[in-house]
Amino acid sequence: MTENKKSIHGEWSSRFAFILAATGSAVGLGNIWKFPYIAGEYGGGAFVIVYLLCVAAIGLPIMIAEIMMGRRGRQSPINTMETLTAEAGADKKWSWLGWLGVIAGFLILSYYSVIAGWALDYVVKAFFGSFSSGDSAEINALFDDLIASPMTLVFWHTVFMAATMYVVQRGVSGGLEKAVRFLMPTLFVILVLLVGYAMTTDSFDKGLSFLFAPDFSRIDGNAVLTAMGHAFFTLSLGMGAIMVYGSYLPKNISIAKTSFFIAGADTLVALMAGIAIFPIVFANGLEPGTGPGLIFQTLPIAFGNMFGGWFFGIMFFVLLVFAALSSSISLIEPAVAWLVENRNISRMQACIWAGLATWGLGLTVAFSFNIWSDFKIVDKSIFDLLDYITANLMLPIGGFCIAVFAGWMMKPEHVLEELELPEQHVAIWSFLVKYIAPASVFIVFLHVIGII
Ligand code: PFF
Repeated sequence: MTENKKSIHGEWSSRFAFILAATGSAVGLGNIWKFPYIAGEYGGGAFVIVYLLCVAAIGLPIMIAEIMMGRRGRQSPINTMETLTAEAGADKKWSWLGWLGVIAGFLILSYYSVIAGWALDYVVKAFFGSFSSGDSAEINALFDDLIASPMTLVFWHTVFMAATMYVVQRGVSGGLEKAVRFLMPTLFVILVLLVGYAMTTDSFDKGLSFLFAPDFSRIDGNAVLTAMGHAFFTLSLGMGAIMVYGSYLPKNISIAKTSFFIAGADTLVALMAGIAIFPIVFANGLEPGTGPGLIFQTLPIAFGNMFGGWFFGIMFFVLLVFAALSSSISLIEPAVAWLVENRNISRMQACIWAGLATWGLGLTVAFSFNIWSDFKIVDKSIFDLLDYITANLMLPIGGFCIAVFAGWMMKPEHVLEELELPEQHVAIWSFLVKYIAPASVFIVFLHVIGII
C-alpha cells in the first residue's frame, strides 16, 4: 500500500534527514533541562534506572510502532488513525487517538515555549557576561529575577513561538530538515566540554554516584510514574509527533534500526547532561532537588569559572534554544498537518492559527511563575499541572493505545510489510508491544491510583 503513496506534505530527502529530524524532536529541553531536575527531585540513581528500563522496554517498541503506523497512514495522526482503523477493520473510536495527540502537543508546546524562552534570555545574559563572577548566589538571583518578570517571560515566549511557526511554515524539507542539520553534532561537542569541566571539580565522584548509585528507598509510585512519563516525553512518543515524522519517511528505510539510533542518542544526551550538572551542584553546595531552575542555576557557574566560559556559555544556550526548536516544531506539526488536510487552508494559515492558540495558553504558563503563582489547581500551578497532565497521563495513555493498536488491531501481514525484519525480531517486538509495554503502563497507573 505504501509503496508508491507519498504524504501530501512532502517527504524526507534521505534516511539521514529523517534520523536528524526525529533525533531533533527527541533531543530537546526534556534531556537537558527536565531530566536532570526530575532525577534530582527523585533522588538520582534509582530513578535513572527506572527511566532507562522504561526507555528500553516501553519506549523503544512503541517508537517502532509509532513510526510504522505513520509511514503506513501517510497523513496527520488524526487521519492516519482513521485510515489504519478502516484498514484493520477496527472500531472507529480508535481515531480519537489522533486527537489525543494533537491536544497533547498543543498543551506541551504552550509551556515548552516558555521554558525555551528562559534559554533565549540566557543567551543574552551569557553574551553580556552576566555569569562572569561564577558565584552561585549571584547566579541564583539572576534566575529568580527572570521568572519573577512576567513581561520578560512573555517577550521570549513570543519570540520562540514566532521562530517555531516560521520553521514549520516552511514545510517538511525546506524548514524542518534544514533546521536540524547542524545542531545535533555541535550540541554534543559542547556537552562533552561541560562533562570535561565537571571532571575538574572535586565533586565529580559524588555527582556520578548520585546519578548512578541506586537508592530504591527514594522511589515511590509517583517517581515511577514520572520516570515512565519522562521516557515518553523525551522520546517524543504517545502523541503523534514521531508518527507524523514517520509519515514523511520513504519506504526503503529500516524503522527498527533508525529507532535504536534515536533512542540511543537521546539517552546519551540526557545522561551527559546529568553527568555535567550534578558535580557542579555538589561542588557548590547546591541542592539537587531545586526543580525546573536547576540547569539555569548550575551551568552558568561552570561558564563563569571555566576557561573560554564566555564563548561556551553563549554557544550552550544558543544550542539549547535550537534543540528546543527542533522539538517544538514536531509538537505542532500534527495539528498543522491536520488543519491543512481537513480545513483546506494553506500551511501558512494553519501555522498562524495553531501558533496563536498555543501562544495564548503559554501566557497563562508564563504568569504561573509570578503574578499567578498562588493560583493552584489540585495543589499545582498551571505549569506543573500542564506538565503533569501531558507527560504523566496523556503521553503514557497515548503510548498505551498505540502499542495496543499496533500489537492487537493491525493485521500482522501489514506490520510485516512495514517492518521488513527477520521473523525472530518481529516476534520480540510483537511481544513487547502486545504485552510488556501496555501491561507496564497499566500497572504503573493502577499503582499510582492506589489499587495495587
Ligand atoms: N522530546 C522532546 C524533549 O525531550 O524535549 C519533547 C517532546 C517533543 C515531547 C515532541 C513530545 C513530542 F511529541
